[in-house]
Amino acid sequence: MNPSRCLYPGSFDPVTLGHVDIIRRAAALFDTVVVGVLYNPEKQGCFPAAQRVDMLKRVCAGIPNVEVISYGGLLAQFTRETGISVVVRGVRGVADLESETVMARINHQLNPALETLFLPASPEKGEISSSMVRQLASFGADLSAYVPSEVLPDILAAFSHQRMNILRED
Ligand code: PNS
Repeated sequence: MNPSRCLYPGSFDPVTLGHVDIIRRAAALFDTVVVGVLYNPEKQGCFPAAQRVDMLKRVCAGIPNVEVISYGGLLAQFTRETGISVVVRGVRGVADLESETVMARINHQLNPALETLFLPASPEKGEISSSMVRQLASFGADLSAYVPSEVLPDILAAFSHQRMNILRED
C-alpha cells in the first residue's frame, strides 16, 4: 500500500498554536503531512513567504513526518503535480465551515482526485487566528498563549517598529 500523504495548506501569516494543533493531529493520521504556505489573494501578507516557511520549519522540527513547502499557484495544481489526494483544513466554527465548504468544492472541481478533510479546532484553540495575533502584536500584547515560542522573536521584531497607542494624543 502507498504511504499516505496529505497537504495542510494555509497562509500561516504567522503560524499559530491553532495551526500547530492541526499539524500534530494530521501527523498522527497520515504518514507524511506537507504543510504548504500558499498564496491567498484575499489577504494582504505581513511576513514574506520565505519567513513563514522558516517559522513553520522551526516549529515543526520535532515532528518527524512533516515537510514544509511554499507554492505560488493553485492548490489544485500543486496536488495534481505531487499526487497528493487529501487536503486537511482546520475548522473553528460555522463561519469557517461555510467558506471551507465552498473552497473544498471548488478544489474538487479543479482536481476531482482531491478530497478535503475537516478537523474541528480543539476547544481551547478555537479562537486563535493569525489576524488576531497580528492585531494583538500591533498593540504589544502578550502572545505566548497564541503562537509557538519559536516564532515570538520574529513577531516582536516585525511589529516593534509599528506599535501604536491609540489613547496617546501627542
Ligand atoms: O490560511 P488561509 O488564508 O485560510 O488559507 C487559504 C489558502 C492559502 C489555502 C487558499 O487561499 C489557497 O488555496 N490559495 C492558493 C490558490 C488557490 O488554489 N485558490 C483557490 C481556492 S478555492
